[in-house]
Amino acid sequence: MRDLVVFPRMVVPLDVSRVKSVKALEEAMAAQHLVFVASQKKTEIEDPQEDDLFQIGTLAKILELLKMPNGQLKILVEGQSRGKALEFRSITNKGYTEVLVDVLAESIERTPEVQALMRQASQLFEQYIKLNRRISIETSVSLNTLEDPAHFTDVIAGNLLIKMSDKQVLLEILNPEERLERVIEILHSEIEILNLERRIHNRVRTQIEKTQKEYYLNEQMKAIQKELRQKDDSTKDIDELREKIKAAQLPTEAAEAAEKEVGRLEKMMPFSPESTVIRTYLDWLLALPWNAVSTDSLDLKRAQAILDEDHYGLDKVKERIIEYLAVLKLVKKMKGPILCFVGPPGVGKTSMGRSIARAMGRQFAKMALGGVRDESEIRGHRRTYIGSLPGRVIQSIRKAKTKNPVLLLDEIDKMGTDWRGDPAAALLEVLDAEQNKTFMDHFLDVGFDLSQVFFICTANTLASIPSSLHDRLEIIRFSGYTEEEKLRIAHNHLLPKQLKEHGLEAQDVLVPTDAMRAIIRDYTREAGVRSLERWIATLCRKTARSFADTPPAEPFRVTVKDVRRLLGVPEYSTEKAADNKVGSSTGLAWTEHGGETLAIEVAKMPGKGKLFLTGKLGDVMQESAHAALSFIRSNAKKWHIKESFFKTQDYHIHVPEGATPKDGPSAGTAIATALVSAMTNRPVKRKMAMTGEITLHGRVLAIGGLKEKSIAAFREGMDTMLYPEGNQKDLEEIPEDIKNHLKMVPVKHMEQVLSLALGAKGLPAGRQVPSQRPS
Ligand SMILES: Nc1ncnc2c1ncn2[C@@H]1O[C@H](COP(=O)(O)OP(=O)(O)OP(=O)(O)O)[C@@H](O)[C@H]1O
Ligand SMILES: [Mg+2]
Repeated sequence: MRDLVVFPRMVVPLDVSRVKSVKALEEAMAAQHLVFVASQKKTEIEDPQEDDLFQIGTLAKILELLKMPNGQLKILVEGQSRGKALEFRSITNKGYTEVLVDVLAESIERTPEVQALMRQASQLFEQYIKLNRRISIETSVSLNTLEDPAHFTDVIAGNLLIKMSDKQVLLEILNPEERLERVIEILHSEIEILNLERRIHNRVRTQIEKTQKEYYLNEQMKAIQKELRQKDDSTKDIDELREKIKAAQLPTEAAEAAEKEVGRLEKMMPFSPESTVIRTYLDWLLALPWNAVSTDSLDLKRAQAILDEDHYGLDKVKERIIEYLAVLKLVKKMKGPILCFVGPPGVGKTSMGRSIARAMGRQFAKMALGGVRDESEIRGHRRTYIGSLPGRVIQSIRKAKTKNPVLLLDEIDKMGTDWRGDPAAALLEVLDAEQNKTFMDHFLDVGFDLSQVFFICTANTLASIPSSLHDRLEIIRFSGYTEEEKLRIAHNHLLPKQLKEHGLEAQDVLVPTDAMRAIIRDYTREAGVRSLERWIATLCRKTARSFADTPPAEPFRVTVKDVRRLLGVPEYSTEKAADNKVGSSTGLAWTEHGGETLAIEVAKMPGKGKLFLTGKLGDVMQESAHAALSFIRSNAKKWHIKESFFKTQDYHIHVPEGATPKDGPSAGTAIATALVSAMTNRPVKRKMAMTGEITLHGRVLAIGGLKEKSIAAFREGMDTMLYPEGNQKDLEEIPEDIKNHLKMVPVKHMEQVLSLALGAKGLPAGRQVPSQRPS
């Protein structure tokens, strides 16, 4: 065998490839299954002779033999006993070697000394196994069951991982006790070597670990240093913030809140999302004008001059502002009033607000409420998420940079309500003098004093303002302008303003009255002057363009023809409201866009006395139509209308829809007049308009919007207007030039209306009204 020693009682698998050995095994298998295994002294020798082999070997029994396809063998042998080769006989013809072996028997008494040696060997072997993982633990367990010292030492010897020559030495020691001692020696030195190995291994490992650890610590140190440097920057930052807070002289509550947030910021990682929120918050706290107040200019003459300069007319508003300033001059301190400008579009409500700020020497801020449906738009979002901001009130105050600006709450009637809370309720808190000294914005979370703010609201109609809000407002009505007023506004305000905006000089362009009137009449139909201003802007733009080509030698006088040329086809034909005739009358309506005329038409046809109503009439208007019919029917005799008319005729009332839906009872007189006209075949007087609610007994009741209606009647070329006597108090509001051209006739009862409109009073008694034959 090469490199291997088989000890007695050891079971060993062997690979056999040398032909000589294979032959020998085959021979052995034929006999007693016994072979003598001996080791070569030198591994490299291919065909060992007698001298190349150790004399002492092992007699072994073949337990199993397996032939491999390549002719080699795999065998399992079990050592039986030591043997000494005495004589070698080469069996040349058969090709193997036969040996004469002296079997060496060995026996030993288990003296206490031997037992002690065995115990020691067993302990050492256990240690050895622990250190040398390549030997299985079971070996040491089975070892403890062995009684025979010879057997015991051979098992240990067989399992030692030592040089083959050392093993051969062990094999050759025939005295078991001696052998045991030798094994113990070997175990000692092996264990020592293994321990040493282990120590060396550990040292190397710790060496590697140490460099790794150093690397890791270094990295960590770098990270910490980086952190420290940042912290340094941010402490500087935080110190700066603290200084700013001190310098800002915030009110106690705000200062405390700011200090608290700075404290939180300090403990936070810089650039964390939450720190951004805090920074935004502090930014807002610092930017708000906690103490900034502008001094009111209390020079009443100068204020009046500024108001007059900006707006024509609107005397009531101007007076109210001057009064306020006068009182302020006397009492020094005063809660800001809450004015509410109500009127049709384009009459100067918003621009008046701006002008008031200028006259008082205050900052101006505007807050559009149209379309606001969310409470938090007014009161802000809580600071729980990134991107939350204060509400519009606080935003406007920040923009105004003072805590006493004129704050215009534009279009409060266009505010909505939904599930996110009622903005009107939040607004109430803003406007309420009791509460707004410490107005709580959700974002700020500290009170802000709004008590010195001069609030102005604007609205087109009062109808959609919640009544709780309405209560707190001082309503100032703006009504539409008459043609003459528009002319003056155009000349004194709109034209100069637009010329300037288009880079033209006032003396470059002259618009004579007839040309301006043409613009007003043919291109606009509105209560205010917004589209008038737009047309004037168009005029200026077109002129500016022609000027850019050839600079004029002398001022450009705009003629009516030029107006047509520059502005294009007129928007509105000069044709006035349809003339009154049989079955048609002119009523007057008042909407949030100003006054309008209503052409009311009645058709009669054979039928069963039914009343049809068409043309988007509101509920109230439909009811007043029914009331009118009942009134007529109950008084039919007076106007010589046969009772049968109400059984054989159907009546159809139609009111053209026009631009805006309208409703209300004030068309009562006009509907009744058109009905009677249709029934009696008498035409309604031309150029007569009327307004008034009627009762079942024919009384005419007062209506709203007399001024707007008179303006509309005049604009549409009417010459007479019947209005309820109850409205006589409003007559003074009506501009003089309208009163000069429009005959205003107060009426008390429907009979009066009919006699004025149809001349019914003059109907000869008994005169037959031509009747329609029933079908
Ligand atoms: N009396 C006036 N004198 C001078 N300019 C006026 C007058 N009335 C209105 N204007 C001008 O008409 C334009 C439209 O006015 P503004 O925007 O104030 O209308 P508004 O009443 O706020 O309308 P809305 O209800 O639609 O908001 C402005 O340029 C304003 O200067
Ligand atoms: Mg406005």
